[in-house]
Amino acid sequence: MKPYYKAAFTMLMATLIIALATSCSHQKKYVIGVAQCSEDSWRHKLNAELQAAAYFHPNVELRFANANDDVQLQRRQLLQFARDGVDMIIVAPITSREITPAIEQVMDRGIPVITFDRKTHSNRYTAYIGCDNYQMGYTMGKYVAGEMHQHGKVVEITGMQGSSPMIERHRGFAAAIKQYPGITIIATAPGNWKEHSGYRAMDSLLRGGVTEFNYVFAHNDRLALGAIKAMKAHHLNNHAQVCGIDALNVPGGGIEQVQQGVLSASYIYPTKGDKLLELAMNILQGKPYSRHTKLQSALVTPENADVIHMQYEEIANSQQRLHQLNEMIDHYLAQLSLQRLALVLAACLLLLAVVAIVMLLRIARLRQSRNAMSSLFSSDISRVATVETPAYGNGTPVQQQITMPQEAAPDNDSFAARLRDVLQSNLCDPSLDVDTIASQLGMSRAGLYRKVKALTGQSAVELIREARLKRAHAMISSGERSVSEVAYAVGFSSPAYFTKCYKDYFGHTPKHSKNQS
Ligand code: FRU
Repeated sequence: MKPYYKAAFTMLMATLIIALATSCSHQKKYVIGVAQCSEDSWRHKLNAELQAAAYFHPNVELRFANANDDVQLQRRQLLQFARDGVDMIIVAPITSREITPAIEQVMDRGIPVITFDRKTHSNRYTAYIGCDNYQMGYTMGKYVAGEMHQHGKVVEITGMQGSSPMIERHRGFAAAIKQYPGITIIATAPGNWKEHSGYRAMDSLLRGGVTEFNYVFAHNDRLALGAIKAMKAHHLNNHAQVCGIDALNVPGGGIEQVQQGVLSASYIYPTKGDKLLELAMNILQGKPYSRHTKLQSALVTPENADVIHMQYEEIANSQQRLHQLNEMIDHYLAQLSLQRLALVLAACLLLLAVVAIVMLLRIARLRQSRNAMSSLFSSDISRVATVETPAYGNGTPVQQQITMPQEAAPDNDSFAARLRDVLQSNLCDPSLDVDTIASQLGMSRAGLYRKVKALTGQSAVELIREARLKRAHAMISSGERSVSEVAYAVGFSSPAYFTKCYKDYFGHTPKHSKNQS
């Protein structure tokens, strides 16, 4: 490949590589599997927060799975994530003991596991993030005791048996109530976190004759609302105070229920998807992280529900603005990448155009040089010029005619013009050879050979001989010189050898040319 083609090709490739490199992200890509235990408004909020947080990590892909409270399904989902080669798993174990072996299997494969909101039964997990469910149960117990003026009967409706929040909320609540001899937990009925299970639990208690109670502590707000519906169904409106946990700030959520006096209290069970993703990224990127992160929480009562609601609204507004900002950034980024693509294409086209122009110019120059060379050695005698050269033998200068090129080389500085000058002024010198010409042109012998060969297809020696013979032909045709005189005048030292070369070149003897003139 010619050097200039090589250079152009290299430039083109470099441009393309730079364009590709700048359009690709250099960050390592992470895939995180999120194994949710169920689907409800609390989980939706958490998933949405995770996705919003992931927006700030373009190298993160979140894959969600929902086990619908089916432990076996969650087991399979965890193992599937592992088979898919995810970089990390975030899991809310449906129940602690049953899901532990699957989590351990995943850990054995070297995949880090974060458990959130709910715990596993062993110590084999990478990190846990969630609320202190014992403390929540305990605080709720204290609150209920206060509301009951330390006297009365309580019914507890629990979350799913075997899930860590259920176990811990129950223990905390029981520990607090135990401090009040005037309060008795008369029944602990099992639910499964869903509203209809709260309804069922309360309905069967009431059917079973458990009607004498002043307070209901449900392990979440949905269970609490189910229990209230059941009491209503039994015509026991406002029969007892009911409190729950979660305090979601959504229509129909815990905060609204407390504001409206439907629930006597709730407890914020924070989702904190942003914190969860931050923890995940710290682990994935090898940054320091805390193995146990306790999320802050707060009791929501009729006294503070409005303020908390207002603050949530403020946050929601800010989030809305952030969301709009994100959309704008997305829009600009899309525009930017289009512009970048257009720029890269334009650069490539420009480069191609430059390469094409350079090549065309080179070809044109090559043609010009060839034309100049061919005209330089043309045998047209109409351009014969008379020059004086040193005489041979008697020392008298000899007038001689030489053939000038039909067209002068377009550029006097060009190689062809300079070569012509050197040949014209030295042709009569029998010692004129390639080395003399090369040194007069300031080139190496090899350089001269290459250039002459490229332009004429002949060697420099052949070129000198051709120039001599063409000049000789012009002089003979003018008829004023003898063959011997012409032979010497064009640099042959032997007329006999001149005659031979002349015949070889023109196909007839110099004498024949002379007779024809
Ligand atoms: C949401 C939920 C919450 C509850 C938590 C316990 O799926 O049921 O209502 O507080 O899970 O893990």
